[in-house]
Amino acid sequence: MNLFDNAPKDITQEKPEALSSDDAARELARLAKEIHYHDAKYHGDDAPEISDAEYDALRRRNEAIEALHPDLIRDDSPSQSVGFGPLEKFEKVTHAMPMLSLGNAFSDEDMKDFDDRIKRFLSVGDEKVDYWAEPKIDGLSCSLRYEDGVLVQAATRGDGETGENITLNVKTIGDVPHRLKGEYPNILEVRGEIYMRKDDFLTLNKTQEEKGQKIFANPRNAAAGSIRQLDSSVTASRPLHFFAYGLGEISAPVAKTQEEIRARIEQWGFVPNTPSRLCCTLNDIEKYYSEMEINRPDLAWDIDGIVYKVNDLALQDRLGFVSRAPRWAIARKFPAEKAVTTLHDITIQVGRTGTLTPVAELEPINVGGVMVSRATLHNEDEIKRKDIRIGDHVVIQRAGDVIPQIVSYVPEKRKKDAPEFIFPDTCPECGSKAVREEGEVAKRCTGGLICPAQAVERLKHFVSKYAFDIEGLGDRIIKQFYEEGLIKTPADIFTLQARDKGSITPIRKKEGWGDKSAAKLFESIDEKRTIALDRFIYALGIRQVGQATAKKLAGFYESFDAFQTAMQNAKSGLENDDNVSYNALLSIDDVGPSVAENLITFFDESHNVEVIEELKSHLTIEDYVLDIDTSSPVAGKTVVFTGTLSQMSRNEAKAGAERLGAKVAGSISAKTDYLIAGEKAGSKLKKAEELGVKVLSEQEWLDLING
Ligand code: IVH
Repeated sequence: MNLFDNAPKDITQEKPEALSSDDAARELARLAKEIHYHDAKYHGDDAPEISDAEYDALRRRNEAIEALHPDLIRDDSPSQSVGFGPLEKFEKVTHAMPMLSLGNAFSDEDMKDFDDRIKRFLSVGDEKVDYWAEPKIDGLSCSLRYEDGVLVQAATRGDGETGENITLNVKTIGDVPHRLKGEYPNILEVRGEIYMRKDDFLTLNKTQEEKGQKIFANPRNAAAGSIRQLDSSVTASRPLHFFAYGLGEISAPVAKTQEEIRARIEQWGFVPNTPSRLCCTLNDIEKYYSEMEINRPDLAWDIDGIVYKVNDLALQDRLGFVSRAPRWAIARKFPAEKAVTTLHDITIQVGRTGTLTPVAELEPINVGGVMVSRATLHNEDEIKRKDIRIGDHVVIQRAGDVIPQIVSYVPEKRKKDAPEFIFPDTCPECGSKAVREEGEVAKRCTGGLICPAQAVERLKHFVSKYAFDIEGLGDRIIKQFYEEGLIKTPADIFTLQARDKGSITPIRKKEGWGDKSAAKLFESIDEKRTIALDRFIYALGIRQVGQATAKKLAGFYESFDAFQTAMQNAKSGLENDDNVSYNALLSIDDVGPSVAENLITFFDESHNVEVIEELKSHLTIEDYVLDIDTSSPVAGKTVVFTGTLSQMSRNEAKAGAERLGAKVAGSISAKTDYLIAGEKAGSKLKKAEELGVKVLSEQEWLDLING
């Protein structure tokens, strides 16, 4: 057998014309997911991971494949949506059949009562009733409506009668088929649970924490927070799953038992709830519960109990409902997993992006089969809200059975003089100031250029493609040189060769290196001793300052010294809105108060300034030269757009102005040359009039630029 012929080809590299119909469908699914992901990174997180050119290439590939296979265009294709603007709010949906809740049972006796009740109601004497048993998934319920096999609506449970329309978001979940397989009734509602796996939840929280964004308490909250995103591209970037467990409205019967429903659900293309089983006696019921209680920690998702349903659907019909729950089903709940232990200390961990996270150091204790010695305290507010102090006896719980959490302290055991915990104002790793931005829960270290906790990531960013782009200094070498103490700060890169001369083991003598490769590295470093201003600003790795913002800053300040001085002068603007430099900074399109604060605190940190001064001594930072049409009448002018334009979108107008060499600002200042006011112009128009800035109508602007 020729292994190479059978090796799966990489369809992502295949030309659109060369793709079979199946491969094209797979590629379109991948592209939809990937483009949504990058949309979310760009719009939702302001942290693009790919260049505009790479992003455009993805969209072009999607369009090219769609042009060849118009029958495969997906509902969630990026080409089908007009931008990815978030929804205003979710639409209300009235359920065709109410979504009910379940009665609870907490013991074997409760289960016996349930079985007795059912038998009494059905007057079956001692005859046995079979139950279908399956895990109760700890997620959020969702009803999917299919008409002629096509998913037309997905709704949350809401109050059971009315939920919210989350169709766009649910369509991003891989487990949810957009079209049913096999045979199905014209109208079919499938109900189930949206959930997040425990490992995905941990990874999501880690990235959320690094970005200083909301940390979710457990996988259920994470799933709920992800599905209730008004911008479905954010949902698409979250790892959600769906388990189907039952039906809502159906236009024709599809099964006689719960067990058959499960089989049908699977045939239609859903993932059924597992592991599930038929229980014929109370003994079976108890056995399944005990087995699941033992297996619970090993399941990849959270379950909070077992649901038992009368298997025979005709009997279910006869049993009906009491108030808002079916008489034919019950949820046997697992007990919460909690324990009490001593809090020895609260330490502060610094993440790769500088987030300071308080960690509870606990007397080790067994919680639900897992030894716990540390727990996250999330952030400063959480400690205050729960009033947790060092030395307390604390109740801990494995939230969603994964991350240990501190629930509360035991007041009777608190020592009288236990002092309140004071969250540090400096980074424990490097001593730089730690600040908390408005609207954020996390404190962050501002010593971006020197903090060891962040160093390797910062260095990697500094030499990356759109920053210094130093060939030969890849991620692996950066990490190695950092660990060996050869490169600690970005400035060290430029003294590497000079220091190498006197070292005991010069680079050329290291394993994997030789004269040639060492010389080549030094050469590629030398090539980058002159750098464009926008690249240099981007390389500094200031939070929220990506390539686009770096370019805007470079265009506005034109030289690094002017930029740095302006950032230092803008400092008092954080408290006082009269500060001219601060207002000028805010007038730059894309720069809001949060970006401004990041810039100012970065330049206010003496450790960063020291590294910058050193870098300046090794580098030539070129002044920014606008690539502009100098002959245009608006070249070099600062313009602001406001109100609704009628002949083009505001973004199109801004891009056009920039092409003609104008600087587009987001707010009016004394430096503004023109305000272009569309319909319903508001406060900016008033401010322009007050400052004597020339105001143009859309038509006057077009007349001006068209000469
Ligand atoms: S059956 C008539 N089966 O639990 C209601 N529900 O506490 C029938 N749930 O809102 C529900 N896993 O969202 C059923 N295997 C399962 C379930 C399950 C989780 C949720 C469901 C419901 C809630 C009731």
